[in-house]
Amino acid sequence: MNRRARFLEVLGVSEEWVPRHAPALPQDGVAEPDVAADVAANLAAEPVAAAVAAPPEAPAVAAGDAAMAPPSVRDRAGPEAAPRPPAEIRPEIRPEIRPEARTEPRTEAPPALALALAPAPAPAQPAMPASAGSREAVIAGLDWAGLEARVSGCTDCGLCDRRTQTVFGVGDRQAEWMLVGEAPGENEDKQGEPFVGVAGKLLDNMLAAVGLARGRNVFIANVLKCRPPGNRNPEPDEVAQCEPYLRRQIALVQPRLIVVLGRFAAQSLLRTTTPIGKLRGSVHSYEGIPVVVTYHPAYLLRTLSDKARAWEDLCLAREVHARAGAKA
Ligand code: URA
Repeated sequence: MNRRARFLEVLGVSEEWVPRHAPALPQDGVAEPDVAADVAANLAAEPVAAAVAAPPEAPAVAAGDAAMAPPSVRDRAGPEAAPRPPAEIRPEIRPEIRPEARTEPRTEAPPALALALAPAPAPAQPAMPASAGSREAVIAGLDWAGLEARVSGCTDCGLCDRRTQTVFGVGDRQAEWMLVGEAPGENEDKQGEPFVGVAGKLLDNMLAAVGLARGRNVFIANVLKCRPPGNRNPEPDEVAQCEPYLRRQIALVQPRLIVVLGRFAAQSLLRTTTPIGKLRGSVHSYEGIPVVVTYHPAYLLRTLSDKARAWEDLCLAREVHARAGAKA
C-alpha cells in the first residue's frame, strides 16, 4: 500500500478521497479555490518557508468559518455540510514517522527557528484589568499539582455550576507537541479528558498519521476547562478566567510546537479575529513558541473536503517541529 493510501486508511476516509483532477462540485453554491494544491506544491518545493511566506489567498474562509462556529464544532459532526471532493495531497510531502518521546525534562527554551513568522496579529481583546493581575500571578507560579488542584476546584466563572467535572488536559507533560482545542463537550465533561468523543477519534487518527499518539510526546488541552452548557460559544469572561490556566500549562510543558485546533482556540490563543482560513498555512508565535493552526476535528467530520488542508497543516507542523531541533 502506498503512503497516500495508508494515510487515507488511517483517517478512515479512503472512499471519500478522489484525485485532484476530478471535477469539483459546488458547495452551497460557493466555488472554493484549490488552496490545498497550492500549499502542497509550496510545501513540496520549499517545505516551511513557502508555507510561512505564502498564506493562502482567500481560501474557503466563508464556508469554513461559518461551519467552524461553535457550538456546532464540539462533537456535533453531522451531514449538514455537503462534502466536495477534496484535492489530492502529494504523498511525497508526508514526513517520515519517527516517534520518539523525550525522556529528559527540557531546560532550554526551544531554539530559534529559521522561519519568517507570520506577523503578530493585533490584540482583539482588551488588556486584563489590574485586579486580575494577582490571580494571574498566583496561577503563573503554580506547579503541576497546584495547577491541577486549582483548576479542579475553580469557581471563578459560571461554568462551574453546570459542569460534571473540569477537564484539565491529558498527555506527556514534557511533550514537544501541544495541541489546544476549544472546550470540553458532553463526553469530555463526563470522562474528564479532552477529545474523547467522535472528534477525538479523528484527532487520534490525525496524530497517528504523523507518527504521534495521545500521551506520547503530545499534551492535549483546551482553552476552557469546563463545558459550556449545550456546547454554546464560550463567553469572553469565561475565556479570560480560564486563559491563565492554559498559559501556565504551556509554560510548564514548554512544547516545541503548539497546534491549535479550530477557529475559537486559534483566535483566543493568538488574540486575533482573523478567520481560520487565513490563520492556517502560516507559522505564528505564542510566547516565542511556534504555532500552527488547523481545523477542528469536529469540523473536519462535517467537511470532508477540508481534510486535505488539515493534512497540509500537519505536514507544516512536522516541518516546524523538525526545524525546532526536535528529536522526533
Ligand atoms: N472539542 C474540543 O475543542 N475539545 C474537546 O476536548 C472536545 C471537543
